[in-house]
Amino acid sequence: MDFDVNEIGATAFVIARFRALEEELDEPLFHDPYAKLFHDDAVAAVVDQMIASDSLVWPTIRYRTRLFDDFVKAGIAGGTKQVISLGAGLSMRLNHLTGQEVKTLEVDQGEVLAFKHHVLGKAGVDPVPSLACNYLEVDLPAEVEKAGLDLDAPTTIVWEGNTMYLPQDSLLPLIAGLAEAFTSLRLGFDYFINNLAGREFSSADAQALTERIEKLIGATWVAGIPNIWVLEQDMPLRITKLGKLPALREDYDNTAPMPGYDDAADAYGYCLAETRKGG
Ligand SMILES: C[S@@+](CC[C@H](N)C(=O)[O-])C[C@H]1O[C@@H](n2cnc3c(N)ncnc32)[C@H](O)[C@@H]1O
Repeated sequence: MDFDVNEIGATAFVIARFRALEEELDEPLFHDPYAKLFHDDAVAAVVDQMIASDSLVWPTIRYRTRLFDDFVKAGIAGGTKQVISLGAGLSMRLNHLTGQEVKTLEVDQGEVLAFKHHVLGKAGVDPVPSLACNYLEVDLPAEVEKAGLDLDAPTTIVWEGNTMYLPQDSLLPLIAGLAEAFTSLRLGFDYFINNLAGREFSSADAQALTERIEKLIGATWVAGIPNIWVLEQDMPLRITKLGKLPALREDYDNTAPMPGYDDAADAYGYCLAETRKGG
């Protein structure tokens, strides 16, 4: 069976391989019992090269996974009734972190979801409900409703590993649209703080490293959010946690030596936000 996954969709395979590696570590930061189902030798070789290229790539993806796992768990503990994985890729978080009491929805491109469901089917694993679309080209809240979710129910959306691949001018309208549509929303995402699309680097080495990683991933980081506070200024959102992903080492992995930051790592942030009570 062939799947015509495009460049952005292919990034999902790389991230799944990083997650599968976690089980081999003495002190894993998270467990994803399904990540190994998506194993592919060629992708594993790419990930090995990424790890060899830059000492921050792997830790950063580990911290990112743990951050969003914690975000979902805290949401459910705090009363979230629906969890949506936007650009879910091969993430299996909704399968293993949510129970019967929570509605789930994975949104991704049709080809990525078809591949995922094919692999899960062979392994006898039921996929969670999904919505196949380019989420930039549909009325996403309306589609989410059609998929059986309630815009007035407390909802957590994880939007992991997506923003950097999207058109620059699509990011804020998408966030604003979700913030307006859901009565009670928690939204978590990672993003580039500096607009890497500007391709301004502090040194030729930094530029070369960024471009080497992009080449290995097979996609280019084109978008960023230089002024994250517009979420509070222009949208009914309150930022609850904000920071740089590599710095999460202090929370999760204090024993590991901290390599120096390169430009991309120094610009790589996360944002957790929720709807402001009272609008
Ligand atoms: C780097 S992967 C991350 C996947 C997953 N969230 C994770 O962290 O493992 C990006 C995923 O977002 C999906 N994606 C990006 N832009 C999208 C769009 N406009 N519509 C639907 N899916 C999109 C891609 O198909 C891909 O599966």
